[in-house]
Amino acid sequence: MSDSQPPRSLIIGATKGIGFALAERLGASEHKVALTGRSKESVDTALNRLRELQPSGSFDGLILDLKDYSTTRNILTNFGQVDHLVLCGSSDAAWGPFNAMTMETIEQALKTKLVGFLNVVQAVMPHLADHGSITFVGGTAARASMPGSVGIAAVNGALESATRSLARELAPRRVNLVSPGLTDTEAWDQILAANKTELYTSFAAKLPLKRVGCPGDSAGAIAFMIANSYVTGSILDVDGGWHLG
Ligand SMILES: NC(=O)c1ccc[n+]([C@@H]2O[C@H](COP(=O)([O-])OP(=O)(O)OC[C@H]3O[C@@H](n4cnc5c(N)ncnc54)[C@H](OP(=O)(O)O)[C@@H]3O)[C@@H](O)[C@H]2O)c1
Repeated sequence: MSDSQPPRSLIIGATKGIGFALAERLGASEHKVALTGRSKESVDTALNRLRELQPSGSFDGLILDLKDYSTTRNILTNFGQVDHLVLCGSSDAAWGPFNAMTMETIEQALKTKLVGFLNVVQAVMPHLADHGSITFVGGTAARASMPGSVGIAAVNGALESATRSLARELAPRRVNLVSPGLTDTEAWDQILAANKTELYTSFAAKLPLKRVGCPGDSAGAIAFMIANSYVTGSILDVDGGWHLG
Protein backbone atom coordinates (compact mmCIF):
# COMPACT_ATOMS: atom_id res chain seq x y z
CA MET A 1 0.00 0.00 0.00
CA SER A 2 1.46 3.41 -0.91
CA ASP A 3 1.96 6.09 1.72
CA SER A 4 -0.81 8.20 0.17
CA GLN A 5 -3.42 5.51 0.90
CA PRO A 6 -5.12 5.40 4.32
CA PRO A 7 -3.45 2.79 6.53
CA ARG A 8 -5.32 -0.50 6.81
CA SER A 9 -5.51 -1.65 10.42
CA LEU A 10 -6.75 -5.01 11.64
CA ILE A 11 -7.77 -5.31 15.30
CA ILE A 12 -8.32 -8.82 16.62
CA GLY A 13 -10.95 -8.63 19.39
CA ALA A 14 -12.52 -5.20 19.03
CA THR A 15 -16.26 -5.66 19.49
CA LYS A 16 -15.96 -4.10 22.96
CA GLY A 17 -13.49 -2.88 25.57
CA ILE A 18 -10.00 -1.70 24.66
CA GLY A 19 -10.18 -2.96 21.06
CA PHE A 20 -13.44 -1.10 20.45
CA ALA A 21 -12.00 2.15 21.85
CA LEU A 22 -9.02 1.71 19.54
CA ALA A 23 -11.26 1.07 16.51
CA GLU A 24 -13.13 4.30 17.26
CA ARG A 25 -9.88 6.22 17.63
CA LEU A 26 -8.24 4.85 14.46
CA GLY A 27 -11.48 5.39 12.52
CA ALA A 28 -11.31 9.06 13.49
CA SER A 29 -7.67 9.16 12.27
CA GLU A 30 -8.57 8.00 8.76
CA HIS A 31 -7.42 4.41 9.15
CA LYS A 32 -9.42 1.79 7.30
CA VAL A 33 -10.32 -0.39 10.28
CA ALA A 34 -11.23 -4.07 10.26
CA LEU A 35 -12.25 -5.58 13.58
CA THR A 36 -12.98 -9.10 14.67
CA GLY A 37 -15.31 -10.84 17.12
CA ARG A 38 -16.52 -14.42 17.52
CA SER A 39 -20.12 -13.96 16.35
CA LYS A 40 -21.96 -12.13 13.60
CA GLU A 41 -24.15 -10.53 16.23
CA SER A 42 -21.27 -9.01 18.24
CA VAL A 43 -19.45 -7.86 15.10
CA ASP A 44 -22.58 -6.26 13.57
CA THR A 45 -23.45 -4.52 16.85
CA ALA A 46 -19.92 -3.10 17.11
CA LEU A 47 -19.91 -1.95 13.48
CA ASN A 48 -23.28 -0.21 13.90
CA ARG A 49 -22.06 1.59 17.03
CA LEU A 50 -18.81 2.66 15.34
CA ARG A 51 -20.63 3.97 12.27
CA GLU A 52 -22.84 6.04 14.56
CA LEU A 53 -19.89 7.39 16.54
CA GLN A 54 -17.67 8.01 13.48
CA PRO A 55 -19.94 8.44 10.43
CA SER A 56 -16.96 9.32 8.20
CA GLY A 57 -14.89 6.32 9.38
CA SER A 58 -14.23 3.17 7.36
CA PHE A 59 -15.13 0.02 9.31
CA ASP A 60 -15.33 -3.62 8.32
CA GLY A 61 -15.80 -6.81 10.33
CA LEU A 62 -14.53 -10.41 10.38
CA ILE A 63 -15.79 -13.31 12.46
CA LEU A 64 -13.13 -15.59 13.95
CA ASP A 65 -12.25 -17.49 17.10
CA LEU A 66 -8.56 -17.38 18.07
CA LYS A 67 -8.77 -20.99 19.27
CA ASP A 68 -9.74 -22.22 15.80
CA TYR A 69 -6.31 -21.95 14.21
CA SER A 70 -7.06 -23.24 10.71
CA THR A 71 -10.27 -21.25 10.11
CA THR A 72 -8.56 -18.11 11.44
CA ARG A 73 -5.66 -18.67 9.02
CA ASN A 74 -8.00 -19.11 6.06
CA ILE A 75 -9.90 -15.93 6.89
CA LEU A 76 -6.75 -13.85 7.34
CA THR A 77 -5.00 -15.25 4.26
CA ASN A 78 -7.93 -14.03 2.17
CA PHE A 79 -8.09 -10.66 3.93
CA GLY A 80 -5.16 -9.15 2.00
CA GLN A 81 -2.72 -6.36 2.83
CA VAL A 82 -2.44 -5.04 6.40
CA ASP A 83 -0.44 -2.03 7.62
CA HIS A 84 -1.06 -2.38 11.35
CA LEU A 85 -2.09 -5.49 13.27
CA VAL A 86 -3.32 -5.25 16.88
CA LEU A 87 -3.99 -8.33 19.01
CA CYS A 88 -6.50 -7.42 21.65
CA GLY A 89 -8.64 -10.54 22.08
CA SER A 90 -9.26 -11.78 25.61
CA SER A 91 -7.83 -14.96 27.00
CA ASP A 92 -10.34 -17.27 28.57
CA ALA A 93 -10.13 -16.28 32.22
CA ALA A 94 -7.25 -18.04 33.96
CA TRP A 95 -7.58 -16.28 37.29
CA GLY A 96 -7.87 -18.07 40.62
CA PRO A 97 -5.84 -19.96 43.23
CA PHE A 98 -3.24 -22.14 41.53
CA ASN A 99 -4.00 -25.26 43.57
CA ALA A 100 -7.66 -25.14 42.51
CA MET A 101 -6.98 -24.44 38.84
CA THR A 102 -7.28 -27.19 36.25
CA MET A 103 -4.58 -27.60 33.64
CA GLU A 104 -7.34 -27.32 31.02
CA THR A 105 -8.06 -23.75 32.20
CA ILE A 106 -4.42 -22.76 31.77
CA GLU A 107 -4.26 -24.58 28.45
CA GLN A 108 -7.32 -22.73 27.11
CA ALA A 109 -5.87 -19.35 28.10
CA LEU A 110 -2.57 -20.18 26.39
CA LYS A 111 -4.45 -21.45 23.36
CA THR A 112 -6.37 -18.20 22.98
CA LYS A 113 -4.02 -15.41 23.95
CA LEU A 114 -0.57 -16.88 23.27
CA VAL A 115 -0.75 -19.51 20.50
CA GLY A 116 -3.90 -17.90 19.05
CA PHE A 117 -2.12 -14.53 18.82
CA LEU A 118 1.03 -16.08 17.29
CA ASN A 119 -1.10 -17.99 14.78
CA VAL A 120 -2.63 -14.68 13.66
CA VAL A 121 0.78 -13.03 13.34
CA GLN A 122 2.09 -15.88 11.19
CA ALA A 123 -1.01 -15.79 8.97
CA VAL A 124 -0.82 -12.00 8.49
CA MET A 125 2.97 -11.75 8.00
CA PRO A 126 2.99 -12.41 4.23
CA HIS A 127 0.51 -9.53 3.86
CA LEU A 128 2.02 -7.12 6.41
CA ALA A 129 3.60 -4.00 4.90
CA ASP A 130 7.35 -3.54 5.48
CA HIS A 131 6.60 -0.24 7.27
CA GLY A 132 3.86 -1.99 9.26
CA SER A 133 3.49 -2.80 12.94
CA ILE A 134 2.21 -5.48 15.27
CA THR A 135 0.98 -4.50 18.73
CA PHE A 136 0.08 -7.09 21.35
CA VAL A 137 -2.12 -6.28 24.33
CA GLY A 138 -0.62 -8.08 27.31
CA GLY A 139 -1.40 -7.19 30.93
CA THR A 140 0.11 -6.22 34.27
CA ALA A 141 -0.25 -9.77 35.60
CA ALA A 142 2.93 -10.59 33.61
CA ARG A 143 5.10 -8.94 36.27
CA ALA A 144 2.82 -8.18 39.23
CA SER A 145 3.57 -11.40 41.16
CA MET A 146 -0.03 -11.56 42.38
CA PRO A 147 -1.41 -14.64 44.14
CA GLY A 148 -4.26 -16.05 42.04
CA SER A 149 -2.81 -14.86 38.75
CA VAL A 150 -0.46 -17.68 37.72
CA GLY A 151 -2.48 -18.64 34.64
CA ILE A 152 -2.83 -15.17 33.19
CA ALA A 153 0.70 -14.23 34.34
CA ALA A 154 2.09 -17.13 32.31
CA VAL A 155 0.16 -16.01 29.22
CA ASN A 156 1.07 -12.31 29.47
CA GLY A 157 4.68 -13.03 30.50
CA ALA A 158 5.18 -15.30 27.48
CA LEU A 159 3.73 -12.63 25.21
CA GLU A 160 6.21 -10.07 26.54
CA SER A 161 9.11 -12.43 25.77
CA ALA A 162 7.70 -13.19 22.32
CA THR A 163 7.41 -9.45 21.61
CA ARG A 164 11.13 -8.87 22.04
CA SER A 165 12.15 -11.89 19.94
CA LEU A 166 9.67 -11.09 17.18
CA ALA A 167 10.81 -7.45 17.05
CA ARG A 168 14.24 -8.71 15.97
CA GLU A 169 13.07 -11.51 13.73
CA LEU A 170 10.32 -9.63 11.88
CA ALA A 171 12.13 -6.28 11.42
CA PRO A 172 11.67 -3.87 9.71
CA ARG A 173 8.10 -4.50 10.85
CA ARG A 174 7.82 -3.16 14.38
CA VAL A 175 6.55 -5.35 17.23
CA ASN A 176 5.45 -3.85 20.57
CA LEU A 177 3.23 -4.63 23.53
CA VAL A 178 0.89 -2.47 25.59
CA SER A 179 0.33 -3.75 29.11
CA PRO A 180 -2.93 -2.51 30.67
CA GLY A 181 -3.58 -2.55 34.39
CA LEU A 182 -7.09 -2.92 35.77
CA THR A 183 -9.31 -1.35 33.10
CA ASP A 184 -13.05 -0.83 33.31
CA THR A 185 -14.36 -2.96 30.43
CA GLU A 186 -17.23 -5.39 29.97
CA ALA A 187 -14.74 -8.18 30.74
CA TRP A 188 -15.20 -7.49 34.47
CA ASP A 189 -19.01 -7.24 34.49
CA GLN A 190 -19.56 -10.94 35.12
CA ILE A 191 -16.42 -11.68 37.12
CA LEU A 192 -16.89 -8.87 39.65
CA ALA A 193 -20.69 -8.58 39.25
CA ALA A 194 -22.39 -6.59 42.01
CA ASN A 195 -19.06 -5.95 43.79
CA LYS A 196 -17.53 -4.13 40.83
CA THR A 197 -17.81 -0.53 42.06
CA GLU A 198 -16.61 -1.39 45.57
CA LEU A 199 -13.64 -3.41 44.26
CA TYR A 200 -12.68 -0.70 41.77
CA THR A 201 -12.73 1.91 44.55
CA SER A 202 -10.55 -0.08 46.92
CA PHE A 203 -8.14 -1.04 44.12
CA ALA A 204 -7.85 2.54 42.85
CA ALA A 205 -6.95 3.77 46.33
CA LYS A 206 -3.75 1.66 46.19
CA LEU A 207 -2.57 3.03 42.83
CA PRO A 208 -0.28 6.06 42.49
CA LEU A 209 -2.80 7.59 40.05
CA LYS A 210 -5.83 6.71 42.23
CA ARG A 211 -8.15 5.49 39.51
CA VAL A 212 -8.95 2.40 37.51
CA GLY A 213 -8.10 2.66 33.79
CA CYS A 214 -10.60 3.31 31.02
CA PRO A 215 -10.42 1.67 27.56
CA GLY A 216 -9.25 4.95 26.01
CA ASP A 217 -6.09 4.92 28.17
CA SER A 218 -4.83 1.73 26.53
CA ALA A 219 -6.24 2.64 23.10
CA GLY A 220 -4.17 5.84 23.19
CA ALA A 221 -1.03 3.85 24.01
CA ILE A 222 -1.68 1.39 21.16
CA ALA A 223 -2.23 4.31 18.76
CA PHE A 224 1.17 5.65 19.86
CA MET A 225 2.84 2.28 19.15
CA ILE A 226 1.25 2.27 15.70
CA ALA A 227 2.22 5.85 14.87
CA ASN A 228 5.80 6.04 16.14
CA SER A 229 8.03 4.55 13.45
CA TYR A 230 11.11 4.35 15.73
CA VAL A 231 9.67 2.18 18.52
CA THR A 232 10.04 -1.59 18.43
CA GLY A 233 10.47 -4.37 21.01
CA SER A 234 8.95 -2.07 23.65
CA ILE A 235 6.56 -2.82 26.49
CA LEU A 236 4.42 0.13 27.56
CA ASP A 237 2.69 -0.10 30.97
CA VAL A 238 -0.68 1.67 31.06
CA ASP A 239 -1.66 0.86 34.60
CA GLY A 240 -1.83 3.98 36.76
CA GLY A 241 1.54 3.05 38.26
CA TRP A 242 0.62 -0.49 39.36
CA HIS A 243 3.93 -1.89 38.02
CA LEU A 244 5.80 0.28 40.54
CA GLY A 245 4.66 -2.10 43.26
N1 LIG B 1 -9.78 -5.08 31.17
C1 LIG B 1 -8.70 -5.23 31.95
O1 LIG B 1 -8.69 -4.92 33.16
C2 LIG B 1 -7.43 -5.79 31.35
C3 LIG B 1 -6.27 -5.79 32.15
C4 LIG B 1 -5.09 -6.29 31.64
C5 LIG B 1 -5.07 -6.81 30.36
N2 LIG B 1 -6.20 -6.82 29.61
C6 LIG B 1 -6.13 -7.43 28.26
O2 LIG B 1 -6.59 -6.50 27.29
C7 LIG B 1 -7.20 -7.21 26.21
C8 LIG B 1 -8.59 -6.64 25.97
O3 LIG B 1 -9.32 -6.75 27.18
P1 LIG B 1 -10.78 -6.12 27.34
O4 LIG B 1 -11.02 -5.95 28.80
O5 LIG B 1 -10.95 -4.97 26.42
O6 LIG B 1 -11.67 -7.38 26.84
P2 LIG B 1 -13.21 -7.48 26.47
O7 LIG B 1 -13.89 -6.21 26.76
O8 LIG B 1 -13.70 -8.71 27.11
O9 LIG B 1 -13.12 -7.70 24.87
C9 LIG B 1 -12.49 -8.82 24.39
C10 LIG B 1 -12.56 -8.88 22.87
O10 LIG B 1 -11.94 -10.12 22.49
C11 LIG B 1 -12.84 -10.89 21.70
N3 LIG B 1 -12.61 -12.29 22.02
C12 LIG B 1 -12.79 -12.91 23.21
N4 LIG B 1 -12.44 -14.22 23.11
C13 LIG B 1 -12.04 -14.42 21.84
C14 LIG B 1 -11.58 -15.55 21.10
N5 LIG B 1 -11.48 -16.77 21.67
N6 LIG B 1 -11.29 -15.39 19.79
C15 LIG B 1 -11.39 -14.19 19.20
N7 LIG B 1 -11.82 -13.07 19.82
C16 LIG B 1 -12.14 -13.19 21.13
C17 LIG B 1 -14.22 -10.40 22.08
O11 LIG B 1 -15.10 -10.60 20.99
P3 LIG B 1 -16.57 -11.28 21.10
O12 LIG B 1 -16.94 -11.35 22.55
O13 LIG B 1 -17.44 -10.37 20.30
O14 LIG B 1 -16.42 -12.59 20.47
C18 LIG B 1 -13.96 -8.91 22.33
O15 LIG B 1 -14.01 -8.21 21.10
C19 LIG B 1 -7.21 -8.69 26.61
O16 LIG B 1 -6.13 -9.35 26.02
C20 LIG B 1 -7.03 -8.65 28.13
O17 LIG B 1 -6.41 -9.82 28.63
C21 LIG B 1 -7.37 -6.31 30.06
